[in-house]
Amino acid sequence: MATKGRSGEAKHAGKRSGRRSAGKGARPRPGGGRAAQTPSGAQRPAPGVDRLQSEFLANVSHEFRTPMNSILGYTKMLLKGSYGYLNEQQQKNLRKVYENARHLMRLIDDLLNLSNLELGRMALEMAPVSVKKVVLSSLVSVEPLLVDRVLEVEHAIPQDLPPVLADEVRIKEVIINLLNNAIKYTPDHGRVVIEAAALRASDNESVKVEILVRDSGIGIAPAHHEAIFGQFCQLQEPQGSDYQGVGLGLYISRKLIELHGGSIRVDSKPGQGSTFSFMLRAVPDVV
Ligand SMILES: Nc1ncnc2c1ncn2[C@@H]1O[C@H](COP(=O)(O)OP(=O)(O)OP(=O)(O)O)[C@@H](O)[C@H]1O
Ligand SMILES: [Mg+2]
Repeated sequence: MATKGRSGEAKHAGKRSGRRSAGKGARPRPGGGRAAQTPSGAQRPAPGVDRLQSEFLANVSHEFRTPMNSILGYTKMLLKGSYGYLNEQQQKNLRKVYENARHLMRLIDDLLNLSNLELGRMALEMAPVSVKKVVLSSLVSVEPLLVDRVLEVEHAIPQDLPPVLADEVRIKEVIINLLNNAIKYTPDHGRVVIEAAALRASDNESVKVEILVRDSGIGIAPAHHEAIFGQFCQLQEPQGSDYQGVGLGLYISRKLIELHGGSIRVDSKPGQGSTFSFMLRAVPDVV
């Protein structure tokens, strides 16, 4: 499949929506915005404060989800024409409302995930998962990011790939985060590919499935390969997007993959694109 975002002029240039900007050349802030993350622990808040912060974040972000769902639902129905005809201009502006609401929902979900991870409340619902199915639905989820972009986004998932043992919702979040980054940090006319392959593990008995997201984008210097998985770490302004994010996607993705017993890695050099990959266990009795 090749999903292509068609190009338009950079209408949103310079109209970034008031979010915190790391700016070009910003230094990575491993463990960034919160004092709790200094490696030495020197600025760590008093015991219990972290937990209170996480509890507060979890509650607030959970409460935000209900009205946001309502905004998204009604906007979608309006866009579908359920309440009458909308002219082109109305459609266009309403679409912007919808995309921004979706973005806000993603941020809320990130905060909810973050606080639940820190509180140790992220329980996985493990079951056999079809990698192809989850990849296809993740690609549908990132389609809005391709509007006004000229990018080739492809997938290559073998037909006979075994299912993996995973929490489908969480794995989809990880894949969306990686695709999201690949799209954000790949300039127009570039390419993003998501691939998967079955590999025999080192014990030669079990089988693992490796999922890779490759892009031909701006790349990442090896010196930053570890830092980018820290909280609130952002190296530079993304290309061709209204959204800068907050620097949580990779932190949450790594935690989610680690909860699955796996690890996530990056292979990248500046100007030579990036490949993010992780492995999951294949379902034993069907291999
Ligand atoms: N595919 C990529 N190519 C180049 N740089 C990347 C890529 N993926 C991540 N990065 C760098 O790593 C940083 C951290 O990524 P992460 O996904 O955690 O945060 P974000 O994308 O900036 O924000 P968020 O994911 O919270 O919306 C990014 O800000 C960017 O500098
Ligand atoms: Mg991201």
